[in-house]
Amino acid sequence: MWKKKYSLSIHFLRILSIFFLILCCYPSLSSAQNKVEDGIYDIEYEVLTAEATDVSIANDYFDKPATLIVDGEKRWIQLPINHAGWVVGLKTPLNGDFVEVETLEEDEEADKRIIQFLVEEEHDLEEPIEINMHIIVDVLEEDYDHHYTTFFDFDEESISERDEPLVEVADAEEKGDESQNRNIYLLISIFVGCIIVILVILLINRKRNKKDKSER
Ligand code: HEM
Repeated sequence: MWKKKYSLSIHFLRILSIFFLILCCYPSLSSAQNKVEDGIYDIEYEVLTAEATDVSIANDYFDKPATLIVDGEKRWIQLPINHAGWVVGLKTPLNGDFVEVETLEEDEEADKRIIQFLVEEEHDLEEPIEINMHIIVDVLEEDYDHHYTTFFDFDEESISERDEPLVEVADAEEKGDESQNRNIYLLISIFVGCIIVILVILLINRKRNKKDKSER
C-alpha cells in the first residue's frame, strides 16, 4: 500500500518538476530576437516592393532615419510619413495578425504624420517587416485607390544613439508593463491549468486503485 502511495507521489513530483522546468524555460522560449541594448537609436531603412527585392515607389514617402526604441524585449519603431493624406492605412504584423500602426503626431498643414509600431519579439530586425498599405491619391484624374504589400528593411548596422525619441510616448513603457502583466497572467493560468490536470490524474488514479481493491 505504502509502495503505491510512494510511487504515486514520485509520479506527482515528476510531473510537477516537468511543468516547473517548462515554466522556468518560458522566458527563454519566448525570448526575443533583440540584439540591441536598451536605448533610443536612429536607424536607416528602405521600403521594399512586394517581392522584398527592389526599393518600392513608396520609399520616397517615408522620411529617414526611423527611430528605434529598445526597452528589454520590446522594440518600437517611430517614423515620419510625408504626403500623409494619401496614406490612409498602414498595417504591420503583430501576434499573427496585421495591426494598424499608431499615429503619434499629425500635422495636416504640412501633410506629415509620425507613426509608431511594435516590432514582434520573435522578429529578427535584419529580416524585412511586411507592411500592408492602403493608398488613396485624390489629386489624379484617374482614381488611385490601392492596397499594396511592401516591406520595411531596417539596417541594424546603421544604428546610432540619439537622446530622445521622435515623439515622447509615456505609454511605451506602460505598454511594455501591460504585456509583461499579460505574460504573468499567462504563466499563472498555465500553472493553474497544470495543477488541475495533475489533480484530475491523481483523482482518476485513486478511483482506479479503489476499484482494483474492491475487485480483489
Ligand atoms: C501622385 C501620387 C502617386 C502616383 C502618381 C503613383 C503612381 C503609381 C504607379 C503608376 C504605380 C505603378 C508602377 C509600377 O507598378 O511599376 C504605382 C505603384 C505603387 N505605388 Fe504609387 N503613386 C502615387 C502615390 C503613392 C503613395 C503615396 C504610395 C505610398 C506611400 C505609393 C505606393 C506605391 C506602391 C507600394 C506601388 C507598387 C509598386 C512598388 O512597390 O514600387 N504610391 N504608383
